[in-house]
Formats: sequence, structure tokens, C-alpha cells
Amino acid sequence: MNVNATRLTDRSAVITGGASGIGRATARRLAAEGARVVIADIDPTSGEQAAVEVGGMFVKVDVRNQEEVENAFAECQRAYGSVDIAFNNAGISPADDASILDTGIEAWRKVQEVNLTSVYYCCKAALPYMLEQGKGSIINTASFVAVMGAATSQISYSASKGGVLAMTRELGVEFARRGVRINALCPGPVNTPLLKELFAKDPEKAERRLVHVPMGRFAEPEELAAAVAFLASDDSSFMTASTFLVDGGIAGAYVTPQ
Ligand SMILES: NC(=O)c1ccc[n+]([C@@H]2O[C@H](COP(=O)([O-])OP(=O)(O)OC[C@H]3O[C@@H](n4cnc5c(N)ncnc54)[C@H](O)[C@@H]3O)[C@@H](O)[C@H]2O)c1
Repeated sequence: MNVNATRLTDRSAVITGGASGIGRATARRLAAEGARVVIADIDPTSGEQAAVEVGGMFVKVDVRNQEEVENAFAECQRAYGSVDIAFNNAGISPADDASILDTGIEAWRKVQEVNLTSVYYCCKAALPYMLEQGKGSIINTASFVAVMGAATSQISYSASKGGVLAMTRELGVEFARRGVRINALCPGPVNTPLLKELFAKDPEKAERRLVHVPMGRFAEPEELAAAVAFLASDDSSFMTASTFLVDGGIAGAYVTPQ
């Protein structure tokens, strides 16, 4: 890890889904670069652990609940005096979200609420602080499936990530002249509990997906954390409304190496 220990000094970050996977690796990375971190997660056990690990604060949040989301950002402002970085990252990928032919409305709605409506709540809560400061960076976690289709469908998940990407683009454009940058992180498959759970049930599916990754492997969470640290920092000062793909080459490939 090539950490710049002062790049995020005096910045405060709220990370939803900060208790695990990409969010947790990002909490470590942002803290290592000098930021103060609020872990906002539904899981109090891992969330508290993550907060202790990075010398930050845990706030229990179900991202489906607007008041709880608002409270997490208010706590960040109260404890640390600013809200500079919002990494809106919590998401789920449940097994009952599959082909449209087999996916019922309840399964569809649950994923939309956790993955998409939550990002609306988070941006709505973070923006007033950032606009008041005249400065801020919002990073919303979409996915490579927001820009390309898969025959191994998770219909609500893909639609939710398409929504996150479109919302991010629009917000980035709307607030571009007011000091707030808003970008979408689009990871390829990452080696996290979410992916492991999905593929443990179906190793053949995992193999089918790996074939399409030019680099021939899944990402490590730390590789996404490095991208988030860049988007959070002034090193990305001319970037907003972007589709920031960190996908091992997937979206650029037609035929992959053997
Ligand atoms: N892992 C991948 O391959 C991959 C690929 C592309 C995009 N993503 C996206 O990256 C993000 C993080 O995924 P991950 O792989 O690190 O997953 P993960 O399962 O390791 O972590 C997700 C975190 O979100 C939290 N969470 C779930 N529901 C919540 C809720 N209602 N309220 C608050 N917190 C909640 C969980 O407790 C957990 O800590 C998700 O948005 C996911 O869709 C993941």
C-alpha cells in the first residue's frame, strides 16, 4: 500500500457499509491517509470493531431509514466539525434476486431500498454540510454491472446500480460549480464476503465470471480502497460525475487472454 499519510489530514468521512469488505478496507485507507472516520453500518459487532481499528466512531445505521442516515452525518459534523467525504457504499446482493423470471417484487424492492434509495438518502443528508463548506467529495458505490449486462442475472441489483450511476452523474453535474464533487465507483468483482457468499453456492458461476476478467482474478478490497482515497482527495480535483471503473479491464474487453 502506497499511502500518503497526510493527503486527507483534517478531513472527516462517513462510510456506509464500513464494517466489512470494500467499506472496511476504505476505512483503514482513509484513516491511514489522515482522515477521521465514521463507520455507519447495520452490524454493530463488526462496526464497533472497525471503528476501534481505525480510531474512529461507530454509528448504527440501517441505510433504509432516512432518520438514521441523517443522524450518521450529524454525528460526523458534531464529533469532527465537518463532513468532507461521504462514501455511500452499503449494499446487498441476495440470492433471491436472480433472473427476472424468478425474482418476485419483494426481493426486487428490498435490493432497491438498500442499494439505491439509500444512496438518495445519503447524498441528501451529506450535501447540505458540503454546500455550506463549499467543499466535499461524495463517492457512491455502483458496479461494473451498471454499464454492461450479464446472463447470470441479478436483475434488481443491476438496475439498482444503474440507478446509482445515473443519480451520481446528475448530482455531479448539478453541483459542479459549488465545490462538491460526486463520482461513482464501479468495481469489478471483489474478493469480499458479499462475493464469496454468492459464489460459495455456485462455484461454476464463479468460474464463468472469471473468464471475462482480462486480469484473470478478482480485485482485493484494498485495490478499491485506493481508488476511493484518490476520489476523496484533491488529487482528483478535476473529476466529477464520472463512471470510475476499477474492474481489471472487464468493461474494455471483447475477448480476454487465455
Ligand atoms: N464485492 C463485489 O464483488 C462488488 C462488486 C461491485 C460492487 N460492489 C458493491 O460494493 C459495496 C460493498 O460491497 P462489499 O462487497 O464490500 O460487501 P460486504 O457484504 O462485505 O459489506 C457490505 C456492508 O454493508 C452493510 N449493510 C448491509 N445492509 C445494510 C443496511 N441496510 N444498512 C447499513 N449497512 C448495511 C453490511 O453490514 C456490511 O458491513 C456494495 O454496494 C456492493 O454492491 C461489490
